[in-house]
This record gives sequence, structure tokens and C-alpha cells, in this order.
Amino acid sequence: MSQTEIAARVLVQEHLAHKHLQAMPIVKDIAAQKVRIKRLLKQNDASLVAHYYTDALVQELAEETGGCVSDSLEMARYGSSAAASTLVVAGVHFMGETAKILSPNKRVLVPTLEATCSLDIGCPANEFSAFCDAHPDHTVVVYANTSAAVKARADWVVTSGIAVKLMEHLATKGSPIIWGPDQHLGRYIAHQTGIDMLLWQGSCIVHDEFKVIGVQQLKQVYPNAAVLVHPESSYAMSEVADFVGSTTQLIKAAQEMPNKEFIVATDRGIFYKMQQAAPEKLLLEAPTAGNSATCRSCAHCPWMAMNDLDKIEQVLLLGHNEIVIDEELRQQALKPLQRLMDFAAAN
Ligand code: 13P
Ligand code: SF4
Repeated sequence: MSQTEIAARVLVQEHLAHKHLQAMPIVKDIAAQKVRIKRLLKQNDASLVAHYYTDALVQELAEETGGCVSDSLEMARYGSSAAASTLVVAGVHFMGETAKILSPNKRVLVPTLEATCSLDIGCPANEFSAFCDAHPDHTVVVYANTSAAVKARADWVVTSGIAVKLMEHLATKGSPIIWGPDQHLGRYIAHQTGIDMLLWQGSCIVHDEFKVIGVQQLKQVYPNAAVLVHPESSYAMSEVADFVGSTTQLIKAAQEMPNKEFIVATDRGIFYKMQQAAPEKLLLEAPTAGNSATCRSCAHCPWMAMNDLDKIEQVLLLGHNEIVIDEELRQQALKPLQRLMDFAAAN
């Protein structure tokens, strides 16, 4: 395990250690706070864009205010088409950056600048650039979960929702491919498409924790449950899946598949929208970390969890935590990102 991964795991443990404190009853008037935030959103001509992994209260607020709750691709699409002059992006840092790259004239605020992603941390731009330089004949494809600087070094950006389709398209061009940073998603794409890719060895600390043994044990209790897996999980997990897909695709699968029970291997934040989409279905969290785990399901991204109503209210009051990107870097990062947006629009 690399130093970066160890450091990321320590952060997760610290986050989990504080969970019981957060569960202590704190008398708080959420309804009054939501009214204040709604007023602030209007005063700031702002729209709230939230990822499915954020807390249910945050997603609910985005829905109630005509904002957007979605996956990475749709968040990017929505941000650039929204009429609001300010976007409050509740997710992780790269999502705020993506919004800024696509909408330079909008003010992009994030509830906290500390909400990062293990894939982003595990792919420093200088090291990734050196890796690409060592393979100059390769087309460089990076996952959206990367910094603006890494995107600037890439030929294409992809999200999980469109990865297989886009890579099949790139395969017809014939040039060898570097894929980064998520090794699991890369491996899944390679299996799906037969494309041989050079993989950067990054991973998501949340999806890394789902284990086949845990799913098999839960299947013994719920033999008719369908297994839904996000492709940031290990390839072994996708082999036991009934369906593999991005967050939006997983929600659709829960809605459309005939099963009444689902074992869901992705961040538990997704349950808010999944249950809305499939109210009559039983949704079960896929167990994490196998037999010896002290936590049987801690599938919640510590960085996504940093987005709460307090921080959203604060950022709207103070206007701090603005995403700022150097213009030359933004222009470079825009090229591969715009290719993704154009491909998504056409396919
Ligand atoms: P999608 O929402 O695009 O499936 O990505 C999941 C994710 O990792 C967000 O951090
Ligand atoms: Fe990154 Fe994983 Fe958190 Fe998504 S869930 S932001 S991939 S660490």
C-alpha cells in the first residue's frame, strides 16, 4: 500500500471515529436553516449542484431549490447550462474545478475546499505527466476524478457513465492508451472492450472496501437480491454483479430490474435517490472489508460527507471557498473535457 493510500485510510478512520459524536442528539432547527439557505441562494443568484453521495439533506435541498442532484457527468452538464451566475457545488474538489473549467464566467463555490478524493490525491500531476512522457505514442485518457492539472495533461476526460462507450470509440482510432487514475475502472473497461491499456494504479478508498465474500454471505440471506456494483469497485466485485454502472445507471437498474431486493455496492448516499426511484424495493448496503472487519458497512466517502447545511449556509454568507483556476491551465484542461461533453452530447 502506498504512503498516499495509507494517509487516505487514516483520514477515513478519523472520520469514522467522529461518527458517533455526530449521532449525538443536537437540537437544531433544520427547517429554519433550509429557509435561510433558500433565501441566500436567491440573493446570490446561485444554484445548488449536489452529487448522489452527499447527505440526504443536501440532496433534498438541491431538489427543493430547482438545483441538480446527479452523477459527475450530469453535474458538469448542468453546471454549464444553468442560468444562475453562481454555482454551489456540493461534492468534492474536482467537481468544483470541472464546473469552473466549463463555466469560467460563473462564480463556483464549494462548501469546503478540503473535500478531496483518493483518486485525485493518488495522481499527482507531476508524476502522472512523467508517466505520460515515458509513453509519448499513447493517447492519455483520465477519469473525471482528477485535478485540473492532470486533466490538462490528458487527451480525453471520461466519467464512469460514458467510459465504456467512449473507450470503444477511441479503440477504433488504433493508438495505444494510458488510463488513469482508477485502476479498477480501467480494468473493468479493459475486460468489457478488450482494449489493452496502461493503467495508473489509483483507487477509490470507498469502493475498494467492498468484498466478494461479504456479498456472497448477504446473498445467502437474500438469494433473490440483484447485486449492483459501481465500477470503481474491484474487478472481482463486478464478476459477482448482476449490473455494473455509474451512479445514475445503478439507480435506473434498481428502478427497472424486476428484483424486489438489491445489494448495492457504492456509497450509501445513493440510497436517497435510489429509494425515491424505486420506493417499493428493499435496498441493502453491500458489506465492506470481509470477515475481519470491525465495520461491516462503512461505505460512505469521508470527503462527500463534509458537505453539510452549515457549510452551505456559510459559503453563501461569506462567499469564501471559491474555485479559482489559472486561465492558461483552464484552457488546457478544457480541451479534453470539452471532447467528453461533445461526445456525450452526440452519443
Ligand atoms: P459517478 O457519479 O460519475 O458514477 O462517479 C462516482 C464518483 O466517484 C463520484 O465521486
Ligand atoms: Fe473519490 Fe471515492 Fe469519494 Fe468518489 S467516493 S469522491 S471516487 S474517494
